[in-house]
Amino acid sequence: MKSTYKAVEVYEPGKFRVVERQVSEPGAGQVRIRVEACGICHTDAATVMGVYPGLTLPRVPGHEVVGRIEGLGAGVSRWKIGQRVGVGLIAGEDGVCESCRRGDPVNCQNPVTSGVTVDGGYAEVMIAEARAISSVPDELTSAEAAPLLCAGITTYNALRNAGLRGGDLVAVQGLGGLGHLGIQFARHLGFRTVAIGRGRDKEKLAKDLGAHVYIDTAAEDVVAVLQRMGGARAILVTGTSGSAMGSLVPGLSAHGKLIVVGVPQDPIQLNAFPLVFGGRSIYGSLTGTPIDGEDTLAFSVLENIRPMIETVPLEQAADAYARMMEGKARFRMVLVTKNGAAQGTPRKPLRLPQRGDGLLRMIGDHVSKHTELSTDSKPLSYPFRLLVEKSELLRQRPEHAKMPDDIRTKTRPYFGMTVPPVAERRERPRSESTYHWLTSAVFEMT
Ligand SMILES: NC(=O)c1ccc[n+]([C@@H]2O[C@H](COP(=O)([O-])OP(=O)(O)OC[C@H]3O[C@@H](n4cnc5c(N)ncnc54)[C@H](OP(=O)(O)O)[C@@H]3O)[C@@H](O)[C@H]2O)c1
Ligand SMILES: [Zn+2]
Ligand SMILES: [Zn+2]
Repeated sequence: MKSTYKAVEVYEPGKFRVVERQVSEPGAGQVRIRVEACGICHTDAATVMGVYPGLTLPRVPGHEVVGRIEGLGAGVSRWKIGQRVGVGLIAGEDGVCESCRRGDPVNCQNPVTSGVTVDGGYAEVMIAEARAISSVPDELTSAEAAPLLCAGITTYNALRNAGLRGGDLVAVQGLGGLGHLGIQFARHLGFRTVAIGRGRDKEKLAKDLGAHVYIDTAAEDVVAVLQRMGGARAILVTGTSGSAMGSLVPGLSAHGKLIVVGVPQDPIQLNAFPLVFGGRSIYGSLTGTPIDGEDTLAFSVLENIRPMIETVPLEQAADAYARMMEGKARFRMVLVTKNGAAQGTPRKPLRLPQRGDGLLRMIGDHVSKHTELSTDSKPLSYPFRLLVEKSELLRQRPEHAKMPDDIRTKTRPYFGMTVPPVAERRERPRSESTYHWLTSAVFEMT
């Protein structure tokens, strides 16, 4: 193994350079990860500009990191060499502060913070605290999984912990790295989902990601539209503008919540009137724990949620960061190392099945059922993945989705072609024959 690795460090505010560093051994309780992918989060700006509290430069940014363990420090028994894992922002609680003692490690007062107190993932190698890593399922490529470990966990946790109920009206403001995942999570958690963006250009994308309604703040009165719909039970604000946040409060229903995950530089302006009359509230939410990270990845696999990403080689981190800061990323820039590139390219994110896509919904149900049932996801994941990808192509020819009998007739000779052996499943699927013809039908038609 080479004794050095490539890293991209910030050496003074606003300036990156590519450096070669010595590979070091992980300390007690740590692992060394051969990085495959690292997402570029807007929070990285606090490292790049040198303003994150506790930061010293030079520092390697990056806290949406996925790679394989290649070294174990003393006392690490839970993890194995070769295992694929991820690291997020809050990457190790101290275990002794008041928050930790109250069982709230995310709000640890003295945490290890990736890319701030320790070097992060804009590198071929990263040393991480073993207690802070999450296991990454085989169904996700490293580049897909990386953004889920900050942008994903932050929006998923904020929504699932907000005391909402299925069918509630939930809005997501901002369509960046966080927002585009927030829309998908809101939709898949069962909420009536509204996307709030600036301009019409992102409307189609927002709807493809699952938004039922898109509100363009440049052309419409957001508060009036939300109130016409009954008022939002929650608005997840992911943008980087404080002035755009406070003005949304009157769009909430009585007891509605403005959940702040974006961290703008400018203050949030608030009017007390809608807070008091209607008992509305506003609070912040910070990322999550490593096990929340695993929940985020598992839910994304279950519901077929993926970030939309643009991958770039690690060495082009500065350009990719600039693209994110200019608001041009669609929607997450992900740095890929040469090890990551060897894992293959990520696939196109899939559109949700929509009303009228009866066949797609059935396929989706079968895929999740089978994924859940697999004893070892390896033999199953590839055919299932292919199946879902093909179902996306099927969507583009929706006339076929309305003709299951026709499909069945056409595809009888293909029965069983792509179905993994039954022996590999823990129990038989609900309807083996339906599954066979669906699988075959999709292949036949695409
Ligand atoms: N709470 C946490 O744990 C946590 C975790 C990660 C990130 N963050 C923070 O979340 C924020 C977003 O991060 P990101 O990675 O998603 O950033 P990003 O990909 O760069 O997206 C920026 C977002 O800000 C919006 N925006 C920018 N200027 C705006 C304006 N003047 N008015 C309204 N919206 C505006 C954009 O909305 P449009 O779509 O309309 O352009 C876009 O949605 C950052 O502040 C980041 O530090 C917090
Ligand atoms: Zn982040
Ligand atoms: Zn602590």
